[in-house]
Amino acid sequence: MEKYKVGIIGGTGMVGQRFVTLMDGHPWFQLTTIAASPRSAGKTYEQAVAGRWAMKTPIPEQAKDIVVLDAGADVEKIAAMVDFVFCAVDMKKDEIRALEERYAKAECPVISNNSAHRWTPDVPMVVPEMNPEHLEIIPAQRARLGTKRGFIAVKSNCSIQSYAPALHPLRKYGIEKALVCTYQAISGAGKTFERWPEMVDNLIPYIGGEEEKSEQEPLKVWGRIENGQIVKAEEPSITAQCLRVPVSDGHTAAVFVTFKNKPTMEQIKADWAAFRGRPQELELPSAPKQFLHYFEQPDRPQARLDRELEGGMAVSMGRLRPDTQYDYKFVGLSHNTLRGAAGGGVLLAELLCAEGYIDRVKS
Ligand SMILES: NC(=O)c1ccc[n+]([C@@H]2O[C@H](COP(=O)([O-])OP(=O)(O)OC[C@H]3O[C@@H](n4cnc5c(N)ncnc54)[C@H](OP(=O)(O)O)[C@@H]3O)[C@@H](O)[C@H]2O)c1
Repeated sequence: MEKYKVGIIGGTGMVGQRFVTLMDGHPWFQLTTIAASPRSAGKTYEQAVAGRWAMKTPIPEQAKDIVVLDAGADVEKIAAMVDFVFCAVDMKKDEIRALEERYAKAECPVISNNSAHRWTPDVPMVVPEMNPEHLEIIPAQRARLGTKRGFIAVKSNCSIQSYAPALHPLRKYGIEKALVCTYQAISGAGKTFERWPEMVDNLIPYIGGEEEKSEQEPLKVWGRIENGQIVKAEEPSITAQCLRVPVSDGHTAAVFVTFKNKPTMEQIKADWAAFRGRPQELELPSAPKQFLHYFEQPDRPQARLDRELEGGMAVSMGRLRPDTQYDYKFVGLSHNTLRGAAGGGVLLAELLCAEGYIDRVKS
């Protein structure tokens, strides 16, 4: 099969490096283009990431000699070279919104890890196992942008992926309210312990903007399409506290939940075990075989032991038990830069290709 040609905008950053790593040997996608800020433009990728390569595996050979382009100045050039781009840049929100629209209007589909377009009403925010049907909004978005191929699709914030997938198959019981406290890894801030020594032996009880995202984003994912817009779900009510903890990778969530029709613990575990999403049906290359895992051991899931489950694409739970104030409580874990960021982006791209929203045009 001829591969799709792929560009990574922000390829030198923490999430961008993950994308570069995930493109290595991908059966459908071939990395041809990397772009970043003017600081990196003109250097080879190897030179541009020298001293800040944060992945555990070496820089893929195929990426080393790619000359980094300027993400802002080279939009037309990049759009002419690739079938679609992944985007993960650290810029002001309004600048990101404008940059992503420029790529879409240049007829280059954008799969974004940034939050800038998450609340644009005709931009789907997709966790492929939870709301693949939101891709049906893309024709309406294309009509607004005046494009034939170009559009923007985003993935949700990394924090929600440690608890919203676990709640998803339980919505049939009517989730009345949920309380979550997240314990978030430092890679979520684009950092390693070397670059953020203040985090060793520390906990910071504040992550700017994260609690609002944690409370609101699941409602868009569970929303419905109406008149060319995604209307967010009215419930459940979610309250969140988000803490930064000294963990390199892997966001953990302590979850408390109350239902309108309370299921048994056995029903919940059975629902988790049986859950299959569209990526599993389509057998997408990055889809975990079992999306939701439950650990019976009382001291699991643990970030170090369990974040890499199924290539870091599975979500794991443990410690499901009755609560004194809510119906139940449990713990969830997901890998924030794989499932929560680049891996989730790659899975979304695979879904978009499999469902016919991205075609192969560049040879
Ligand atoms: N880390 C996570 O777990 C995570 C999870 C979900 C979403 N995200 C989101 O993903 C995005 C990137 O996060 P990150 O952690 O990868 O950040 P990062 O490590 O700071 O990387 C930022 C990237 O943006 C590029 N950049 C900065 N200014 C630019 C400009 N003016 N024009 C073009 N490119 C520019 C940088 O290029 P240079 O190297 O040339 O400076 C670099 O490639 C953010 O929006 C973040 O919120 C991150």
